[in-house]
Amino acid sequence: MKLADNKATLSFSNGSPSVEMPVYQGNIGPDVIDIRKLYAQTGMFTYDPGFLSTASCQSGITYIDGDKGELLYRGYPIEQLATNVDYLDTCHLLLKGELPNATERVDFHKLVTNHTMVNEQMQFFLRGFRRDAHPMAVLTGLVGALSAFYHDSTDINNPEHREIAAIRLIAKMPTLVAMAYKYGVGQPFMYPQNDLSYSGNFLRMMFGTPCEEYKVNSVIERAMDRIFILHADHEQNASTSTVRLCGSSGTNPFAAIAAGVACLWGPAHGGANEACLNMLEDIQRQGGVSKVGQFMEQVKDKNSGVKLMGFGHRVYKNYDPRAKLMQETCNEVLEALGLENDPLFKLAKQLEKIALEDDYFVQRKLYPNVDFYSGIVQRAIGIPVNLFTGIFALARTVGWIAQLNEMIGDPEYKIGRPRQLFTGSVKRDVKPLDQR
Ligand code: CMC
Repeated sequence: MKLADNKATLSFSNGSPSVEMPVYQGNIGPDVIDIRKLYAQTGMFTYDPGFLSTASCQSGITYIDGDKGELLYRGYPIEQLATNVDYLDTCHLLLKGELPNATERVDFHKLVTNHTMVNEQMQFFLRGFRRDAHPMAVLTGLVGALSAFYHDSTDINNPEHREIAAIRLIAKMPTLVAMAYKYGVGQPFMYPQNDLSYSGNFLRMMFGTPCEEYKVNSVIERAMDRIFILHADHEQNASTSTVRLCGSSGTNPFAAIAAGVACLWGPAHGGANEACLNMLEDIQRQGGVSKVGQFMEQVKDKNSGVKLMGFGHRVYKNYDPRAKLMQETCNEVLEALGLENDPLFKLAKQLEKIALEDDYFVQRKLYPNVDFYSGIVQRAIGIPVNLFTGIFALARTVGWIAQLNEMIGDPEYKIGRPRQLFTGSVKRDVKPLDQR
């Protein structure tokens, strides 16, 4: 963090003395005003619900330029990563700061692969859930439960524990997601097979059975890997900030990541891909493309409560670069599976076309986000709609753990403790029951 040449001066209209605050410059992106001493100097807090203008930390992991529609992991554009490296290389990059060289790559892939199995006792824990439980409910429980199974990596202040917890989480998430799925459909759990790639292994644990050999389709394997890369990190979004805040109390890494899983579940965040596909299916049931105009009218009517899911983003005020890549993958997967005429894909394209030309969306700078096409790809692969957010959680785990470890290693890190503007009752006395 570099001090900028200028300082910020805050002056008050009531004649109170003005205060000067340092301004810091990042390597790219907006400067920040350091307000940490504001309360001590003025007795006032700042007010920013939803963090519209607040940088909650310094970070060197992911950079988004929302106006340009640019996403960089450790400086590398997402488009280059999605086409030139695989998900585990991306994990190495996010965790360690650099893409692996040839030797590091072999070692890192081997290390993760060695941890793909989960403690056998975990399946008995899983069996306590109802078969029809939502996979995100199951995953929140399973990820939190990892801290009960891996006692030797729960000390967040120990760098070795943090490192091994990171590898365990990245390695075991596919196993847990696939177990949650298999449990729901009543099929036997499939153990990981370590001569497969990370995504190939996941596909086999999802769709293989002990009865016959599972052959990984390379187009689908690549598509799965791309879905993982595109969701791997996204700077200080709601779930990542949740992981940081939760971890700031010194809790163990598994507990902090479980908090991230819980946050991701919401339809305004990771749950949007599930909500988006449900929306497309609803329109399709009501008549498909011919009903798009009517649906768009509802979206624009503020009283309807209807949103165009998969559209809009807090940071991107331009096309989400991940949505472009996802649309490309969507085309490839549908073609490979002979589903080019998929009605939901046609419907999504029609919705996108209308929205991009409509004043409501243009004025508000609402563009498709990553979730607009990811649901269609996942559905084509055979992933059930209620597992979409689980796949997102799997992919985002590396981002969460990289951000958590970055925070713990930051000398400026403190427990997160926001303040408030109190609008409730002032002090009053409890009255006897007959006078209330
Ligand atoms: N459909 C219709 N109107 C929308 C939409 C939408 N999808 N998104 C935003 N708006 C309107 C909103 O009503 C508001 O209008 P007005 O100014 O007239 O009140 C304006 O656009 C600004 O929206 P906002 O709610 O202030 O923006 P935000 O930054 O608080 O919300 C968002 C961002 C992603 C929560 C929101 O765009 C949304 O709910 N989108 C649908 C859900 C979705 O696709 N979420 C996935 C996000 S990407 C994956 C991830 O990172 O988790």
